[in-house]
Amino acid sequence: MAKMAAAMVESGEDAFRKIFKFYKRRNPPPDFSDVIDFSRGVPSDKIVPAKLDPSAVSDVEAAQVGLQPVRDWRAYSLQGYPGFIFISNPFLLGSQPSWVRQCLKTYPQKPNICNLDMHMSPTETQDIWGKSVHVLGSPSKTREPKTLLEKLRWVTLGYHYNWDTKTYSANHHTPFPADLHSLSSQVTAACGFPGFNAEAGILNYYRSDSSLGIHVDESELDHSRPLLSFSFGQSAIFLLGGICRQDPPTAMYMHSGDMMVMSGQSRLLYHAVPRILPPPQGHSSVEMEGCSPVSSLQDGSVVEPVTEEDWAVCSSYIQSSRVNVTVRQVLGPGQSFPETPSSHKRTDAGPTAGYHEGPGGEDQGKRKRSSSCGSDDATET
Ligand code: OGA
Ligand code: MN
Repeated sequence: MAKMAAAMVESGEDAFRKIFKFYKRRNPPPDFSDVIDFSRGVPSDKIVPAKLDPSAVSDVEAAQVGLQPVRDWRAYSLQGYPGFIFISNPFLLGSQPSWVRQCLKTYPQKPNICNLDMHMSPTETQDIWGKSVHVLGSPSKTREPKTLLEKLRWVTLGYHYNWDTKTYSANHHTPFPADLHSLSSQVTAACGFPGFNAEAGILNYYRSDSSLGIHVDESELDHSRPLLSFSFGQSAIFLLGGICRQDPPTAMYMHSGDMMVMSGQSRLLYHAVPRILPPPQGHSSVEMEGCSPVSSLQDGSVVEPVTEEDWAVCSSYIQSSRVNVTVRQVLGPGQSFPETPSSHKRTDAGPTAGYHEGPGGEDQGKRKRSSSCGSDDATET
């Protein structure tokens, strides 16, 4: 990576964009040998164990959201990225299925908003799961048209992100799911952020050929609060760049169950997902080592166990898909939205950056990005 990145910087090109294209390439497939794999977690000069606060979350509280005791988490920091924490699948064996079911069956439901609502009526999008599962159960691979579940690209929670204005607003809000709020509170508390308040969520649903364009998440009004990311299903390549659009990024795998915390100086770094990876051969990827729903759930668990029928649908879905959940605190303590939603709109932003770059990503909308690094934003494709 170092050599490739250096060459690109020298040539004055947009190193992030080049590396994005490098990992997105299908023919020939790229060399993945520079991609950091935290699951093989051998600390190196670049990868250092992160200090967590195990006393912030009791073992019972952790188990209630489906997590291992914090002292058992494998959490890492990356040299050069202060505030970035990678937690290698801290879920208890058998607890991921419940969260996957929430992402596929529960969170797409009203009052949450999804991409299908952009061009369909509320009654049409009322029961995405119910309208899809009987069809998904049938074997025909070439079935047309696609089910609503297969057409699902994004869901927003809490303060609903407006893809056109790139803002949240006071009057565009529905209750944030209590279970995901609780999971987010435990993870952030363990990472040294007590009092994190999950207010907005964006779920992205990726197929094998999807990608996520280079962007910064800056629409939240308080950037001192961390951004949290959970991934389920197929693995992906995640690129973590710098504060400037052209800074060369570091590539890492995100596997099912992995979490990221972007905080402090890493809160506003450019990032992207150039590639979703096929399941390892001979492995149904998201068997996810004991991810079958055998869980003996903790008393007081915030998530219900998954039924066999639901798991049949979920497991087949995530064998060829990835779901990413990002959770954001929008407002600082005591903060409120400005009087007029437009009064905090940035005027120094460059051209819009593509969000999903993959086929079928049009519904994903656009997110405008600005930069303190000069006019380099103009290079977005
Ligand atoms: C996002 C995001 C990354 C991912 O939704 O803002 O950066 O891993 N997602 O899907
Ligand atoms: Mn993001």
